[in-house]
Amino acid sequence: MVTIVTGGHFGDEGKGKIVSYLALKDKPDIVARAGVGPNAGHTIYNAGKKFGLRMVPCGFVNESSKLMIGAGVLINPDVFLEEVSMTGIEGRIFIDKRCAIIEEKHRNEDTSNSFLKDGVGTTGSGCGPANAERANRTIKLAKSIPELEPYLADVPLEVNSAIDSGRNVLLEASQGFGLSLFYGTYPYVTSKDTSASMAAVDIGIGPTRVDRVMVIYKAYTTRVGEGPLNTMLTEENINNYPLWKGVLKDARDKGIDAGTVNETLAEYLGEKGTVTMRRRRIGDFDIELAKYSAMVNGATEIGIACLDKLFPECYKVTRYDKLSERAKEHIRRIESGIGIRVSLISTGPDATDTIDMREK
Ligand code: GTP
Ligand code: IMP
Ligand code: MG
Repeated sequence: MVTIVTGGHFGDEGKGKIVSYLALKDKPDIVARAGVGPNAGHTIYNAGKKFGLRMVPCGFVNESSKLMIGAGVLINPDVFLEEVSMTGIEGRIFIDKRCAIIEEKHRNEDTSNSFLKDGVGTTGSGCGPANAERANRTIKLAKSIPELEPYLADVPLEVNSAIDSGRNVLLEASQGFGLSLFYGTYPYVTSKDTSASMAAVDIGIGPTRVDRVMVIYKAYTTRVGEGPLNTMLTEENINNYPLWKGVLKDARDKGIDAGTVNETLAEYLGEKGTVTMRRRRIGDFDIELAKYSAMVNGATEIGIACLDKLFPECYKVTRYDKLSERAKEHIRRIESGIGIRVSLISTGPDATDTIDMREK
């Protein structure tokens, strides 16, 4: 069984947390990381400890899973080696020998080129310039970096043979649909497509091998960096959203006032980037984008994260029937808008804070 987990909005939907739950629950033989590279930051909590992961798959929390990074993913060797030692996964993490390498010159270009830095608002991690060099066919590959030698593998061979033996494989994508180079809000996008098909390409499996595509959305829509956020909440429109008016009131009652309505909501909801610590912009759940991204991703199921941030009474709830009526109504609005039933709901940052409604 092959499952791809991908982001349905602008990244930071909570894919890392969902993958950590699925890894612990389903114990996949392999968890493989797809996506652009160390521009992504997944934050997970396991057994009370916090991990911010830019290279290592979040599925590391299940100790019996082999961990892989596919050839499509850009590697920053320093970040990779540091995370391997921090997570204690030596011996069960492998990277494809054809992964391309981010060097200092790529990071310098990403942070000094004013269009990338200020126009697009990139993460500054060097991914865009590295993918440009990869397309120019002059980039260095993992197989030529001595420090990476112990980790090199043929990831497609490993993953396809695991699938042939009937094992479970979980593919963890990064970023989100709205950031896709092909389908997102160009030019305010990342340097590659971000859909489920690309995740399969990143790891080296064909489309016929994929059984499930789970698209993850946050209970509301956020965006970090520049580019349109159609449902963005502002001074002018907040009164049109009774739910958000209430959230703003809760924030102010707690003494939070970060300037604008949107900044105050971001501060209250704790929406800050994992990689860059930039404040994320907050929008109402963007149903149009969600529906379109479910279509292009070929979603077979959807997951909703951070339900507790919008409805604090749902914090750490693990049964659907224990959710508040207003939270259930929110879930139903998303389900009927997208036309797909929700199969996982996340109600807190810890892997165990999850409502699982998949067929048993
Ligand atoms: P990208 O690959 O960067 O797109 O990241 P991501 O989708 O893995 O999400 P990221 O970890 O960057 O951001 C999600 C944030 O929400 C993290 O800080 C998580 O700890 C937190 N989080 C995830 N799910 C929940 C949840 O259900 N409730 C709460 N309160 N926090 C959550
Ligand atoms: P880059 O991928 O660093 O080139 O950044 C391009 C755009 O994608 C910027 O708006 C970033 O903020 C955004 N972006 C890239 N990776 C992520 C991610 O993992 N989560 C959220 N936004 C991201
Ligand atoms: Mg993130």
